[in-house]
Parts: sequence; structure tokens; C-alpha cells
Amino acid sequence: MTIFSVQSTIFTRASVALLSSNGLKRFSLASSFSSNALYSPPLPKTKKRRFPIVSAVDIGGVTVARNDVVRDDDPTNNVPDSIFSKLGMQLHRRDKHPIGIIKNAIYDYFESNYAKKFETFEDLSPIVTTKQNFDDVLVPADHVSRSLNDTYYVDSQTVLRCHTSAHQAELLRDGHRRFLVTGDVYRRDSIDSTHYPVFHQMEGFCVFSPEDWNESGKDSTLYAAEDLKKCLEGLARHLFGAVEMRWVDTYFPFTEPSFELEIYFKEDWLEVLGCGVTEQRILKQSGLENNVAWAFGLGLERLAMVLFDIPDIRLFWSDDERFTSQFGKGELGVKFKPFSKYPPCYKDISFWISESFTENNFCEVVRGIAGDLVEEVKLIDSFTNKKGMTSHCYRIVFRSMERSLTDEEVNDLQSKVRDEVQRKLNVELR
Ligand code: DAH
Repeated sequence: MTIFSVQSTIFTRASVALLSSNGLKRFSLASSFSSNALYSPPLPKTKKRRFPIVSAVDIGGVTVARNDVVRDDDPTNNVPDSIFSKLGMQLHRRDKHPIGIIKNAIYDYFESNYAKKFETFEDLSPIVTTKQNFDDVLVPADHVSRSLNDTYYVDSQTVLRCHTSAHQAELLRDGHRRFLVTGDVYRRDSIDSTHYPVFHQMEGFCVFSPEDWNESGKDSTLYAAEDLKKCLEGLARHLFGAVEMRWVDTYFPFTEPSFELEIYFKEDWLEVLGCGVTEQRILKQSGLENNVAWAFGLGLERLAMVLFDIPDIRLFWSDDERFTSQFGKGELGVKFKPFSKYPPCYKDISFWISESFTENNFCEVVRGIAGDLVEEVKLIDSFTNKKGMTSHCYRIVFRSMERSLTDEEVNDLQSKVRDEVQRKLNVELR
């Protein structure tokens, strides 16, 4: 799925119908995995780990122990060590990192257009309750985004937030009326150059009172929708200059009407955010039944990839100086110069899948072994034989962004993938 807001919009109607969190662009691939999505069991934990085990992380001054988040004792838990280690990174708080630079540029836009009207929050813990992440924003009980296949669960009532919308309701309840919330969000997903299981969003929220719309002579919803579009078109121009953009009607559980903004980039329309006029039920929960509000969620990686010409989402996590040294605080116009494109190495793997197989589980196994050395996982063939057994063939693209990989090391990774896939996913290798 392709939310800009959101790497992928798991909350659109299309994704509800497909029971898949994958983007519209990867629609057909995603649909073949959909039927088991809600019920896919968490992967068995493994003893062999490629990632060094981090025993605790610091999330904005609060220490969180690994054993409270990566729990072998809870059957619902599906948080791997690779994800736990990302919890305290807060790339959005680094002023010289592309994600931090974009965040600051958006702050500047709001400051110059609505001086001091928007409060900013960027340190809210990504570990939230299912109530915050789903119920408070009216995500239906059977919505795909609640599945273990799509979301990282710490236990049955605690998740790693999959969107910054998880904070809307609590901030409203605490009396905030206009705010921007920036944070890292977590989604189990497939693997390619624009999808990574951790990315960053910024949520915007703005409440209006009857005085605001009364004198306009417009109905409150229309007033809020027009104000929202004006605000976001201005933001897009602030970031991108004169770009071609278009609004697309969509669906989110928390807004009505709902829209996506797309920007024309590299000969294609790219979804950059989701937004809409907030459902009255959400406002009512905070005693705001006489008000109207708009909200948006935008995806900072997507924005940064467009703005800085960054070709692969894994680069945001790189410590390589050849990447980090290219960006400076407040420097918005810089175009990233790739230091070199190292050769890819392709490996195919075919297996008979079982009922519980999902692509997200497969990708998690591959990432668990190859980490950021895996660039893409693509389904290249699928068929069902006369006995009703279904075979999938995936092509895994291994490529480092920092060096050439040796044949030996790639063969070793692939052989580990074969072992683990068989052991963890209940599939039969062909
Ligand atoms: N939370 C949505 C997502 O991650 C994005 C979004 C859409 C946020 C509409 C909003 C909104 O606040 O009003 O897919």
C-alpha cells in the first residue's frame, strides 16, 4: 500500500477488502496472501540471531528493557530483536538527518502560517495500547491492521504504534486542540526500496469552534475540508516548490470525508499523505460535540526520498559517513549523491506454502537473517497443482549499500534463509 502518510495506507477501504496491508501498487501480490492475514501465528522465536541483542533502549529518557518487549513467554508477542533495537533511535529528532530536516521544515511552515498555534509532540512512546492505536480512532474490530500479520504486538493489549493517529484521542482528552505529533511507527510489511518495518509519520490535528465557520457562511464540514486542503497544498509548495498535485477521495475509519494528496514525481503520482475531517464520534469522546476538526498523517521517509533524491529507504538507517555527511541542519535543497551502486545478487527460493503462510512472515524471516543486506523480495511465480498444493517462487535481491557482497557470503545467507523458512514457516522447499 502506498500511503505516503504512511508508507502504505493500511486504513483505506481497498486494504480492508483485501485484508492486506500492502500498497495499492502491489495490489495483486498482496491479495494472494490475504486470506490468512488475520490469523497468521507469530513466528517461533529463534536462538540464532544475526543482530546483536540489545538489552535495553532509552526512549526519550525512559529505559525500556528488552524482556518487556521481546517476550518469549507470550504467544501473542511478535517483536523481533531487530525491531526492538530501533525503538529508541528517534531519527526525527536528529537535526542533520533527512527525517529531522523534513520535520523541522514542516514546523517552519506551521510556525510562519499559524504562529504558535500548533503544539508539537515528538517524544511520545511508540509502545501504546490497542485502545489507543485502534479503538480510540474507530478502527473496526475485524480490520486487517489489527492482525498479527500487520502489526507488532508486545502482548494482546499492547502494540508498537502503527500510526501516529494513536495519539489523537489522548491529546484531545488532555485539552490540546491544535497539534503536530511526530514519531516512529512500526508495520510488518514486505520488502522493497520504499518499505521498511519502521518509518516516521507526522500527525496534524486542528479543532475549530462554531465562530470559525459561522462567519464563512459554509457548513462546518466543508469549512474544515477546505481549510485542510489549503493548509496541505501550502505545505507541499513549501517543501517541493511548484509541483503538480492532485486530491484523491479515499476512506479512513477516523475521517469523513477522507482524502489523499498525490504529487507528480519521476513520471508517477506518489501518495504523500492521508487526511480528512475527523469523525464526530472522536470529538465527542472528548466533549467536543459542537466542534469540527481536520487531521492528517504524512510519511516522512517518502517526503524525504522525493526531496533529497534518496533511492532506498534503508539508507535512512545507515551510519555510513558517505550518507550522513551529505545532509546539514536546515538544508532542504540538497540532492543525495549515491556513493556507488554495488552489484545486486539474485537468489530464488521455491516452496509449497501451507495454510498459515503469509508474505509478511516470510519477509520477516529474510530480514531476520540478512538485515539491511536485503533490498527486495518479489513473488515471481505462483501456481496450484492438481492436488491443490500451491507453490511460490520468490526472488530475493541481496545488495549492500556500502560495499560489494561476496558470493560466499550471499550463498551463506541464502542457505540460512532456506533453513529458517522451512523450520519456522511450515513450508516444503522444492
Ligand atoms: N493514520 C493514517 C495511516 O497511517 C493516516 C491518516 C489519515 C492520519 C487520515 C490522519 C487522517 O490523521 O485524518 O494510514
